[in-house]
Amino acid sequence: MRRIMVANPKGGSGKSTLAVHLASWFARNDEIVYLGDLDRQQSTGHWLAGRSRHLAPIRHWEISNDELEAPPKDCTVAILDTPAGLHGKRLKLALNKMNKIVVPVSPSRFDMLASRDFFEELSETKAVRKDRVDIGIVGMRVDPRTHASRQLVEYLQQFDLPLVTCIRQSQRYVQAVETGVTLFDGNRIDPADQLHWKPLLDWLVRRR
Ligand SMILES: Nc1ncnc2c1ncn2[C@@H]1O[C@H](COP(=O)(O)OP(=O)(O)O)[C@@H](O)[C@H]1O
Ligand SMILES: [Mg+2]
Repeated sequence: MRRIMVANPKGGSGKSTLAVHLASWFARNDEIVYLGDLDRQQSTGHWLAGRSRHLAPIRHWEISNDELEAPPKDCTVAILDTPAGLHGKRLKLALNKMNKIVVPVSPSRFDMLASRDFFEELSETKAVRKDRVDIGIVGMRVDPRTHASRQLVEYLQQFDLPLVTCIRQSQRYVQAVETGVTLFDGNRIDPADQLHWKPLLDWLVRRR
């Protein structure tokens, strides 16, 4: 089973947007997908409730406590969205149960600075030190051709973390969150968006 967590302690960095898109991409690829949310506000849970039953099914991974019980047995891909401010014991517990961590970062100075402590905490965690979990950074709302994306790559070098891809700013992502329909649910994804997602999707399906 693939276990993917989307995390960044800063609110509004694009965690839930990434989580729902990943869930729908795997669902369209015939995986049995469970989407869970460590956030007590259950934003992805609400998103799922508003999603049409005619779309590729994404199941709700119910998480009732901080122990993070395993997803149901039939699950092939578990995706965990997380709240702002996740750190310490709760972060460690979640890291121990995941294979891949996707961290969306926007190229603003504030976002980068806010992520610094998180990157440090991640790199000190046993699961990461023992190489049991892969961490990949995603530049969110970043055009890969711009100065901003180069700055992000330079910034990440000090943590030895890979920038897996950059995903551009687009109103389509805002609509996806509002309507329950992601860019992957339709039959025609814009080739530019497809190109942005491909390195992340390849990175996620790669065996470790
Ligand atoms: N690539 C993007 N382009 C445009 N808007 C985006 C993009 N990614 C996220 N957003 C918007 O930014 C806001 C915050 O994103 P969200 O995924 O909810 O962040 P988080 O879960 O980290 O708090 C939402 O309104 C979402 O629609
Ligand atoms: Mg969120």
